[in-house]
Order: sequence, then C-alpha cells, then structure tokens
Amino acid sequence: MKVTIVGAGAVGASCAEYIAIKDFASEVVLIDIKEGFAEGKAMDLMQCSSLNGFDTKITGVTNDYARTAGTDIAVITSGIPRKPGMTREELIGINAGIVKSVAGSIIEHSPEAIIIVVSNPMDTMAYLAHKTLGLPKNRIIGMGGALDSARFKYRLAEALDCPTSDVEGIVIGGHSDVGMVPLINNAVRNSIPVSEFLSEERMAKIVEDTKVGGATLTKLLGTSAWYAPGAAVSELVKAIALDTKKMFACSALLEGEYGLNDICIGVPCILGKNGIERIVEVKLSTAEAEKLKTSAEGVKKTNALLN
Ligand code: LAC
Repeated sequence: MKVTIVGAGAVGASCAEYIAIKDFASEVVLIDIKEGFAEGKAMDLMQCSSLNGFDTKITGVTNDYARTAGTDIAVITSGIPRKPGMTREELIGINAGIVKSVAGSIIEHSPEAIIIVVSNPMDTMAYLAHKTLGLPKNRIIGMGGALDSARFKYRLAEALDCPTSDVEGIVIGGHSDVGMVPLINNAVRNSIPVSEFLSEERMAKIVEDTKVGGATLTKLLGTSAWYAPGAAVSELVKAIALDTKKMFACSALLEGEYGLNDICIGVPCILGKNGIERIVEVKLSTAEAEKLKTSAEGVKKTNALLN
C-alpha cells in the first residue's frame, strides 16, 4: 500500500505521522514544491520509527511526481491555510489552481489512485477534482466531516464530562463555519440520546462550538489546525487501505442523494478498498433537512466562483 501526501506543511506532515504510527501502509511519499522541505520532514519522521515502533517507509520528494507512481491513495493538502479572521472560502483564488494541477499530476502517474482532498475550501476543491479528473465518483473523497465529527465528539464529551469513547455523533453538510450540520438529535452517550443528560441550551452551544471548531483553533494558533485534520485523514486512509467498511462523514459527489445534485458535500459514507463504497441516506428531521439545503446553497455559491 503506497500513500502519497501532497504538501509537507503541518497538515501533510501530521497525516504522514499518524499513518506511520498506525503502521498499516508500506510506504508514504511526502511531496512538496519547497526544495528539500519534504525530504527534511520525511527524515525527521523516519527517525521516529525505532522510537514509535513503525515499519512504514516515509520518503520526501521535491516536486517530482514520477516518484509518486503506483500510488494507491493520494492525499491533497497543498495550498495555503487560513489565517485568523479568514473563512475557508476566501482561499479559493490561490488553492483552486494548486489543487487542479496537483490532482492532474497524481493521476498522470497513478491512474488508479483514490484521492482524498483536504485543501480548503474543501467541498469546492473536491468538486473541482471531480470536474478536472472525471474519475468515478467513489474515487474522490473530501475530508471534512470526519474532522468535524471528531470535534463534535470532543464538545459532547466535554459537556457530558465523560471520555470521548463514550460518545457518538456525526456532522454532515459543508465544511464551513456556517454550513456544518451537527446531528445533535442522533448524538448518544453509550446508546442513550444526549438529550437525556443535557439541556436544550447546552446542546445548542455544542452545535455552535462545533461549527466554529476550525476558526476557534485558527484564532488560538494563528494558523489552521493540523493534529486533528491529520488524524482524521489517517483514519480515512486506514479504512480504505484495510477495506474496513467503516462509516465516516465525507464530502461525496451527490447525484440525487438527499435531494442534491452536482455538488460535493458532507454525508455519511461507507469507506473500503474502492473508496466511497456507499453513500448512506439517513432520515433527517425537517429542520436538519432545511439546514443541509441551506448548507448546499452556500457550497454551490463557492463552486460558482470556480468559473
Ligand atoms: C480545519 C481545516 C483543516 O477545519 O479545514 O482545521
């Protein structure tokens, strides 16, 4: 199993680190345009192998896509991250060109690769990858919902004062401050609805804190987060590599599901060796369906900027 990560910045390096630590891939190639940067990150990470006990071989490459040939799964993290006060949508001008060119280079050398898009605005970048490459829809996956759901679980556990392993929750919709739809009515603590433990006000606060999860970190860190994004990517890669059929919220190209068409947006997906093996349609309340519709309108507005 060969995994290529495009972009050796904080998110890309964090993806490589978590994938290596989980020790399921034989090879990770980290590629970046900055001379020597990916090589340095790869060397630093490889010097952790005896300490952290992994056998994954991590290689760093400067811009030579021939070295990515034979990639099974490619992760695109390239482009600029947002700064405090910026929305993810504001990055489109710079990131669209980068994502288009990188996606093309990956497929040129690895025509069978499954692509995971992380660069922001993520739903629009995943849509752009679909439009540019014309691959079967199962092979392009946007990473946002897995991260947003992890942030949702963190907030649920915080409010319930319990470990995150005790809670389950999923966030669908666009990967944006206004577009996320945390499905609070489906959130449970060990199978019991969280509404048994929390007030309406507390649940509303969890939803709001989840939606601005990325912006909160950007404000604290001065740049966009990397640990949880990297960990979320590593879980998607693992599910595909090991063909686990695990369910994650992912940005998938919709063709009628949830009443939406010609859009990539976060919905529950089963991941396995073919990438998105199935899009799961869950019954939404009228309010949730309305929120998803509004979220989709926002994503389509951003998609329109591609022209
Ligand atoms: C975030 C970026 C990865 O939400 O979109 O942290």
